[in-house]
Amino acid sequence: MMSKAELDFFVALNILGVPKSNRYPFVLLLAKYYLRLGILSLLSNNGQKRNSTFYLFFSVKFSAGKIYGKTLIDIGTGPTIYQILSACDYFEEIVATDYLEVNRAEIRSWIHSDDPGAFDWSPYIQHTCKIEGKGEPWKEKEQKLKKKLKKILPIDVHQPKPLGFVLSQPADALVSAFCIEAVSPDRESFDRALQNVTTLLKPGGHFLMIGALEESFYLAGEAKLSVVPMKEEDVKESFTKAGYRIHDFHSYTMPPSLKIGVDDVQGIFFINGQKSA
Ligand SMILES: C[S@@+](CC[C@H](N)C(=O)[O-])C[C@H]1O[C@@H](n2cnc3c(N)ncnc32)[C@H](O)[C@@H]1O
Repeated sequence: MMSKAELDFFVALNILGVPKSNRYPFVLLLAKYYLRLGILSLLSNNGQKRNSTFYLFFSVKFSAGKIYGKTLIDIGTGPTIYQILSACDYFEEIVATDYLEVNRAEIRSWIHSDDPGAFDWSPYIQHTCKIEGKGEPWKEKEQKLKKKLKKILPIDVHQPKPLGFVLSQPADALVSAFCIEAVSPDRESFDRALQNVTTLLKPGGHFLMIGALEESFYLAGEAKLSVVPMKEEDVKESFTKAGYRIHDFHSYTMPPSLKIGVDDVQGIFFINGQKSA
């Protein structure tokens, strides 16, 4: 029998339109991931990696093949790569960004796989390949992403020029997972940050974002960080105000079994906006 968490995830998979034949590996992946996560959160009390399971949204969206181009920028990459795994077939170059050097270093250490301390993403890459169903060998995907991750840049979403310079060619698409709301103490700063990062995107470009709903804090090590508690309507309104047409919006209620005490998140939203041309 399926657990409540698995059932809830099947509902989420339905919303995202994942074919039935491809679902079971994903649920198994979740089980494994949360096991690892439990260990991680016990050791570091760090909620960041927990949210990495929600990469399914990005797989489904990129695999549809409608979002592609030269450059993709990931806003607030953190130490994770799940959000860009499915993107590497659709962009020539992927740019990872983060405010913290420690997170940028984690990504660099994954790229230089000789580093024995690097997080092992191989199970996630393998399952991404299965979910995509194209028969791609996982090592090929891993190498492809490492090659395409050409830049790892500092970013501050609260600055009018988030990268500190103006791009000669704005990005064809943006992704972001659990960043903008997590680093914005209130709605005004969320809206401004969204507008700032939108300057990095070309007119007509797509922004795929995942974030937390109605979360007021999360724990990062010893620190308790304030998060703006966004409701679904707030997210949609902010995207519209920032000049996006919303193509897709889904939300998912966090089951109690996945509330592991590192935050008070109530749900997750998935949004695909297209910047007006
Ligand atoms: C909750 S984590 C999300 C990380 C990753 N995207 C994920 O899904 O696990 C938020 C990220 O935002 C970064 N960050 C903090 N302040 C920021 C700022 N002002 N501008 C951009 N990123 C920031 C943090 O270093 C952290 O990596």
